[in-house]
Amino acid sequence: MENSTQITIENIQYSLSDIEKDCWSRLVNGAVKSRSPFHTPAVATFGQKEISLRTVVLRKTIPETREIRFHTDVRSRKWAELLSNPAISALFYDASTRIQLRLNGLASLHQHNDITNDAWQKTTLSSRRCYLTLHSPSSFSDIPTSGLTEDIEQENLSFEESEIGLKNFGIVSIHVQSIDWLWLHHAGHRRAFFDYTDGKYQWMIP
Ligand SMILES: Cc1cc2nc3c(=O)[nH]c(=O)nc-3n(C[C@H](O)[C@H](O)[C@H](O)COP(=O)(O)O)c2cc1C
Repeated sequence: MENSTQITIENIQYSLSDIEKDCWSRLVNGAVKSRSPFHTPAVATFGQKEISLRTVVLRKTIPETREIRFHTDVRSRKWAELLSNPAISALFYDASTRIQLRLNGLASLHQHNDITNDAWQKTTLSSRRCYLTLHSPSSFSDIPTSGLTEDIEQENLSFEESEIGLKNFGIVSIHVQSIDWLWLHHAGHRRAFFDYTDGKYQWMIP
């Protein structure tokens, strides 16, 4: 029998709470599978006067604490923006399932702590290069350049030499306050809103 509080996807019925769980399982997958469309969300912050958006790599999802994390250079603009305003939004879209997630939350910034030390130990030499530019990300340059010395660019450096990048390495942890779930479907789209600030899970008009 049709239950109006549930939706049917491929003959399976889903409640709001099933969908909320499914969001987190997709976010967990997105962090561990580099080919997942959820691996590279767009993240928005608010600067002094304007919104800025950029692609990042989803590095970790912790459903228990409703947290998602990405790595960045502490000298970047987004880091400074988040220091003055921790409000943050992350946008995910999977074209194969036609599911969009919009996460809103507050960022906490990690630097020189167990979380960053642990993640840094697991980074590859290639990833460490991102934190080894002489000048800060977004500095203007007279020439087109990676900002790295030729040796570093060619990965002619040892793991020990790459340790210097740790001082620029930061982790942004987004404490998710709400998820706006949208599923596009030819027979009628469906949308739901999961608000963790008041614990309400509701259907929405798409
Ligand atoms: C596929 C892709 C993945 C990226 N991943 C990251 C990332 O994980 N962290 C990061 O700081 N920048 C990442 N970037 C670069 C950012 O999009 C952005 O250009 C840079 O961080 C500067 O942003 P900001 O000036 O707003 O700080 C990535 C870019 C692309 C295209």
